[in-house]
Amino acid sequence: MSAERGGCGPWTPGGQVVLAEGEVTTDVARRGVRSWVRREGRLTPGQARALEGADGHRLLRPAAADLPLDATRHFGRVAPLHLEIGCGNGDFLVARAEANPGDHFVGLEVHRPGLGHALHAAARLARDNLVLLELDAAEGLDRLLPDDSLTACYVFFPDPWPKKRHHKRRLLQPAFARLLWRKLRAQGRLFLATDWTDYHAWMLEVFENSPDFLNALGPGRDAPRPAWRPVTRFEQRGRRLGHTVHDLLYLPVGKSVAGA
Ligand SMILES: C[S@@+](CC[C@H](N)C(=O)[O-])C[C@H]1O[C@@H](n2cnc3c(N)ncnc32)[C@H](O)[C@@H]1O
Repeated sequence: MSAERGGCGPWTPGGQVVLAEGEVTTDVARRGVRSWVRREGRLTPGQARALEGADGHRLLRPAAADLPLDATRHFGRVAPLHLEIGCGNGDFLVARAEANPGDHFVGLEVHRPGLGHALHAAARLARDNLVLLELDAAEGLDRLLPDDSLTACYVFFPDPWPKKRHHKRRLLQPAFARLLWRKLRAQGRLFLATDWTDYHAWMLEVFENSPDFLNALGPGRDAPRPAWRPVTRFEQRGRRLGHTVHDLLYLPVGKSVAGA
């Protein structure tokens, strides 16, 4: 939704925004341990156009003053808010937004070709219920969304960083779990999936030992594969390699119902 249509201030699709020091930035070039490496690759003309804003208002570059995002104001109605972190090509998020036109969807991605592809795919949506940001979740999620705002958060097939010396790069760390807990509503849900046995064990370690989350299926148990999760390119690759895919579902605990 554009600012003229009651959106959340001067979003500037395709534009440049000057941010104050320390504010959230959609410039993903930050220092420190990251859960990703830049692998820009070649942008197709369609992806480049999408990233330049040709597909309209679905690419958000919020000005710092407009954060955190007031989704109700931005989308123009009250609805459950869903977030996918690392939405890749948008295969899941666009399908989910299409199937749930009454809900709001936000996708974060740092890989520009993937983001361009997702934007292009999102152009088919009939409803104005999805926005995408070029944003490192570890860097920008805290400022992007208010606490207690998410009905659902999805982290599907996060980069596995299999080498031990790279485990510190894994997105799902105890501090990040705590951040996710803060952003979820009291009755929110956190959906995880991975095809890496070792990252599955890591996820269990992080979330089963967290006082903030409860495994919805019982301690240490996998969740059934959600029927609405499409098989993405990454899952296909995992299957080709003979990997077992694990789904997990966590519920935030100890949240006040006022945030629900
Ligand atoms: C293995 S891919 C999976 C993509 C998608 N979820 C799927 O299942 O097809 C992981 C994605 O997470 C993105 N990613 C990694 N770290 C991220 C971060 N800190 N914030 C946002 N996206 C991130 C990567 O760029 C990559 O596209």
